[in-house]
Amino acid sequence: MQLFREKYRSHQDFAGSVLAQSRAVRLAQRCVLGTLLVVLGGCTIEREQTTPAGSVHPVGWVDAENVSFHGKWLRDNKHPLERCRACHGDDYEGGAVSVGCNGSKCHAQPQGQLQGPESCSTCHGDEKGPLPETGAHAKHGAYCDTCHVVPKSARDQGHLDGDALAEVRFSGLALVDEQGPSWERSTGECSNTYCHGKTSPKWPSPSQGPLACDSCHGSPPGSHVQWGRVAQADRCGDCHPVPPGASHLDGKKSFTPDRCDACHGGGGVAAPPMALDGSESPEKRGVGAHRRHVDATLADRMGAPVSCVTCHPVPLATTDPGHLDREAPADVRFQDGGRYDQATGSCVAWCHFDRDPGPSWTDTSGAARACNACHGFPPDRTRRGTWHINAAPQVETCRQCHVFEPMTHVNGTVDYQP
Ligand code: HEC
Ligand code: HEC
Ligand code: HEC
Ligand code: HEC
Ligand code: HEC
Ligand code: HEC
Ligand code: HEC
Ligand code: HEC
Ligand code: HEC
Repeated sequence: MQLFREKYRSHQDFAGSVLAQSRAVRLAQRCVLGTLLVVLGGCTIEREQTTPAGSVHPVGWVDAENVSFHGKWLRDNKHPLERCRACHGDDYEGGAVSVGCNGSKCHAQPQGQLQGPESCSTCHGDEKGPLPETGAHAKHGAYCDTCHVVPKSARDQGHLDGDALAEVRFSGLALVDEQGPSWERSTGECSNTYCHGKTSPKWPSPSQGPLACDSCHGSPPGSHVQWGRVAQADRCGDCHPVPPGASHLDGKKSFTPDRCDACHGGGGVAAPPMALDGSESPEKRGVGAHRRHVDATLADRMGAPVSCVTCHPVPLATTDPGHLDREAPADVRFQDGGRYDQATGSCVAWCHFDRDPGPSWTDTSGAARACNACHGFPPDRTRRGTWHINAAPQVETCRQCHVFEPMTHVNGTVDYQP
C-alpha cells in the first residue's frame, strides 16, 4: 500500500485539483459548523491533522455521514466523474490505481440495474430506481420521460450539466391535445398539461393520497351535459371502464362496449323514446313521431318502417365525428330531399306529398295519418298533372285499381294493378 501511494504521489497535480476543491469546501463548512465544533471540541483541525499521510483523498471521503464524503463532494462540484475515472478506470474497475468501485458494498446495485457509481440510483432515487423523493415524484414514477429527457447513461449530454436542477421537458402524454404545457419553477406549478386538464397542482407540496376524481376533469365533465341525465356520478361504468385502470390517463378516451341506447332510446333501440332529456311523451320534440316512423311492431302501420338514415346521419360508433357535435338538437337531414324546419318542428318531404306546411313532428292527434292528409282521397290530379279517376273515398274502391298494403304504401312507387 505504501508503495502504491508513493507511486501516485506524482499524480498530485491531478488529484490536487480534486483535493484543492475539497479543501475549499471543508473550509467553508468549517465556518458554518464553527459554533457546533467549539461545543464538540473543535475536531476539524485534528481531522485535518489526522489525514493519513499520503492518501490522495481527505479523511471522511468514504464516510457517508462525514462532511467530506465523496458523494457530497461530487454533488457540490457538479459531478466531475471524468476526474475519478482518470485514476479508478473508465469502467470504475480499478484503472491505474487498481482500486475499483464496482461491486463494493457501496456501489453494488440491485439486480437489473447498471452496476457501479454511474448506476441510475447512485445520485437520486433509491434501490428501486432513479426516481427522486422530492416534490410529487412519488406519484409520477411511471411517467419519467413525460417530464424529462431520460438519459440512457449518466454520461449523456445534458444530463449532468451542473446546477442540480432538473430540466423539465414535456413530451408524450403531457402533449396530447396540444395545449402547450409548461412548468414554472417559481410557483411550483405546471399548467396546460393533458393529464391535469385546467388544474395546476403544486409540485413541491403534493396532496396526501390520491387526487379527488373531480380534480382534473369534472365528475362528469362538462361535455356530458347533453346526456347529463345518465352521466351520474355512480354510473360512469355504463360507458367507461371503472374503476379507472390501465386505460385511464393513457391519452385516449376509453369506453365500454358501445350501447346505442345508453343516452337516447331504450330496450336496444337507439330511437327515442327516451329522449336525451328523459322525455317519453311524443309531444316532446326529442321523442316526437319516432315510434310511428320506426316501430315495426305497430299494428296499424300504413307504411314500412322508416330507417334512421332517411332522416339522420347515423354514427357507427358513439364517438364518430358529427354525432356528439355539442349542437343539440339532433341533425335532421333527409336523404331523399325535403327539409325539416327546426323552428316549427315540421317537415316538407316527398312521403307527405311535399305538402307545405307539412305535418308537425309532435302532433299526436293522428291528423297526419288521415287518408287525405298527404294526397286527396282520391287525388284530383296525380303529381304528373294528369287527372285521377273520381272514385268513392273507400279503401275497397282504391283496391280496384291499386295494391294497397302497408309494405307497398309510401315506398316511392305508385302501385297500380289494372
Ligand atoms: C489521482 C488518482 C485518484 C483520483 C483522481 C481519484 N482517486 Fe479515489 N482513490 C485513489 C487511490 C489511490 C485510492 C486508494 C486509497 C487512498 O489512497 O486514499 C482511492 C480511493 C478511493 C475511495 C475509497 C475506496 C475504498 O474502497 O476504500 C473512494 C470512494 C474514491 N477513491 C473515490 C474517488 C472519487 C469519487 C474520485 C473523483 C472525485 C476519485 N476517487 C478520484 C486515487 C484517485
Ligand atoms: C410529472 C412530471 C415529472 C415526472 C414524471 C418526473 N419528474 Fe423529475 N422533476 C419534475 C419537476 C417539476 C422537478 C423540479 C424541477 C425544478 O426544480 O425546476 C423535477 C426534478 C427532478 C430531479 C432533480 C432533483 C430534484 O429532486 O428536484 C431529478 C434528478 C429528477 N427530477 C429525476 C426524475 C426521474 C428519474 C424521473 C422518472 C423516474 C422523474 N424525475 C419523473 C417533474 C417530474
Ligand atoms: C453521478 C450522479 C448521477 C447519476 C449516476 C445519474 N444521475 Fe440523473 N441526475 C443527476 C443530477 C445531479 C441531476 C439534476 C440535473 C443537473 O444537475 O443537471 C439529474 C437529473 C436527472 C433527470 C432529470 C432530467 C435532467 O436531465 O435534468 C433524469 C430523468 C435523470 N437524472 C435520470 C437518470 C438516469 C436514467 C440515470 C442512469 C442512466 C441517471 N440519472 C444517473 C445525477 C445523476
Ligand atoms: C391526474 C388527473 C386525473 C385524475 C385525478 C382523475 N382523472 Fe380521470 N381522466 C383524466 C384524463 C386526462 C382523462 C382523459 C382520458 C385518458 O387519457 O384516459 C381521464 C378520463 C377518465 C374517464 C373516461 C374513461 C377513460 O379512461 O378515458 C373516466 C371514467 C375517469 N377519468 C374517471 C376518473 C375517476 C373515477 C377518478 C377518481 C378515481 C379520476 N378519473 C381521476 C385525468 C384524471
Ligand atoms: C352514457 C355514457 C357516459 C356516461 C354514463 C359517462 N360518460 Fe364520460 N364520456 C362519454 C362519451 C361519449 C365521451 C366522449 C365525449 C366526446 O368525445 O365528445 C366521454 C368522455 C369522458 C371524458 C373525457 C373528457 C371529455 O369531456 O371528453 C371523461 C374524463 C369522462 N368521460 C368521465 C366520465 C365520468 C367521470 C363519468 C361518471 C360521472 C362519465 N364520464 C359518465 C360517455 C359517458
Ligand atoms: C353518450 C351518449 C350517446 C350515445 C351512447 C349515443 N348517442 Fe346518439 N346522440 C347523442 C346526442 C347527445 C345526440 C344529439 C346530438 C347532436 O346533434 O348534438 C345524438 C343524436 C343521435 C342521432 C341523431 C343524428 C345526430 O347526429 O344528431 C342518431 C341517429 C344517433 N344519435 C344514433 C346513435 C347510435 C346509432 C348510437 C350507437 C352507435 C348512439 N347514437 C349512441 C348521444 C349519444
Ligand atoms: C322521419 C324522420 C326520422 C326518423 C326516421 C328518425 N328520426 Fe330521429 N329525429 C327526427 C326528428 C324530426 C327529431 C327532432 C329534432 C328536433 O329536436 O327538432 C329527431 C331527433 C332524434 C334524436 C334526438 C333526441 C333528443 O332528445 O333530442 C335522436 C337521438 C334520434 N332522433 C335518433 C334516431 C334514431 C336512432 C333513429 C332510427 C332508429 C331515428 N332517430 C329515426 C326524425 C327522425
Ligand atoms: C304520409 C302520407 C300519406 C298518407 C297519410 C296516406 N298516403 Fe296514400 N300514398 C302516399 C304516397 C307518398 C303515395 C305514393 C305511392 C308510394 O310512394 O307508395 C301514396 C299512394 C297511395 C295509393 C296508391 C297505391 C300505392 O300504394 O302506391 C293508395 C291507394 C293510397 N295511397 C291510399 C291511401 C289511403 C287509403 C290512406 C289512408 C288510410 C292513405 N293513402 C294515406 C302517402 C300517404
Ligand atoms: C280506376 C282505377 C283507379 C282507382 C279506382 C283508383 N286509382 Fe289511384 N290511380 C290510378 C291511376 C291510373 C293512377 C296513375 C298511375 C301512374 O301515374 O302511374 C293512379 C295514381 C294514384 C296515386 C298517385 C298519384 C301521384 O301523384 O303519384 C294516388 C295517391 C292514388 N292513385 C290514390 C288513389 C286512391 C286513394 C284511390 C281510392 C280512393 C284510388 N287511387 C283509386 C287509378 C285508380
